[in-house]
Amino acid sequence: MTRRSRRAPIRPAALGVRPGTLQAGDTHAAVTPRRGHSTPGTLPLVPRYNGSMDFDGMLNAANRVCVLTGAGVSAESGIPTFRDAQTGFWANFDPTELATPEAFRRNPGRVWAWYAMRRRMAGSVEPNAAHRALAALEPRFERFALVTQNVDSLHSRAGSSNVLEIHGNILRARCASGCVTVHRDDAGPLSGEVFAGDASADESDPDRVAVPRCPQCGDLFRPDVVWFGEMLPARAIERAFEHAAACDLFLLIGTSAEVYPAAGLPEAALESGAKVVEINPKASAFAPRATLSIRQPAAEFLAAYAE
Ligand code: OAD
Repeated sequence: MTRRSRRAPIRPAALGVRPGTLQAGDTHAAVTPRRGHSTPGTLPLVPRYNGSMDFDGMLNAANRVCVLTGAGVSAESGIPTFRDAQTGFWANFDPTELATPEAFRRNPGRVWAWYAMRRRMAGSVEPNAAHRALAALEPRFERFALVTQNVDSLHSRAGSSNVLEIHGNILRARCASGCVTVHRDDAGPLSGEVFAGDASADESDPDRVAVPRCPQCGDLFRPDVVWFGEMLPARAIERAFEHAAACDLFLLIGTSAEVYPAAGLPEAALESGAKVVEINPKASAFAPRATLSIRQPAAEFLAAYAE
């Protein structure tokens, strides 16, 4: 696979974007790789519960852990992934009709209704053992950074405190002109107004979906997520690359590793001398370079660490 720049807006391999078409000008700062900082850990985490002595050995030896999660980590909570055949969102919906700024301009009602459906879905499920395990592991290391491409808030709900949401969060909405951002759970009246139509937003009848408007400038509200072709939140992706380059153990969990710049994080970790462990029932695009691949569903495998 051609190596793609991580200094680029979000681009899915699945949309057939060639490396040469990547846009320049990402505000993500270059990161200098560091080497040889791994020292044996002093805190034995857990005895070997899950059958992977290698994984436990790596955990126990690590001081600085960086994790990248994708849709697969929420699969066992009941949220579909994107690219899994048949069950994935992109097996049933066209991403160019739902997850691009052009799609929103063309048909804001349809896009808003799809995200309203996903907000309902995220609100109706619970964090699973993988989310809980990552929250439980966080305080055990000198440094532990959890980077997620997920927009469902399940990591925070499971108790993780240092979560870098590099693709945004569907529970937030912002004025398309940038005036104001609101979170669905904010107490203020604006939040109530913005998300009031969620329960009834009907994807099959997009013309009747009332997309809320900004009280300051009158522009439409949009989900506060990163769509294909858009820049990632600069500070979050910059910090993610800093953590990846500084960790001694990188966990790649439940992601196809097909979407950049996120997929560049395990590459940065490996280049800096870290071990990369992939937890995924299927091989991700990064699998050939992973130090260890655990072919199991994330919640099933990580359940032993959830207590
Ligand atoms: P994908 O759908 O591309 O990949 C999900 C991965 O999870 C696949 O590799 C599955 O094999 C794996 N998987 C499925 N069930 C699992 C389980 N129980 N445990 C562990 N892994 C499991 O989703 P992402 O990699 O998150 O962006 O996709 C990245 C981005 O592309 C998303 O943020 C989204 C998407 O289009 C936008 O919508 C802008």
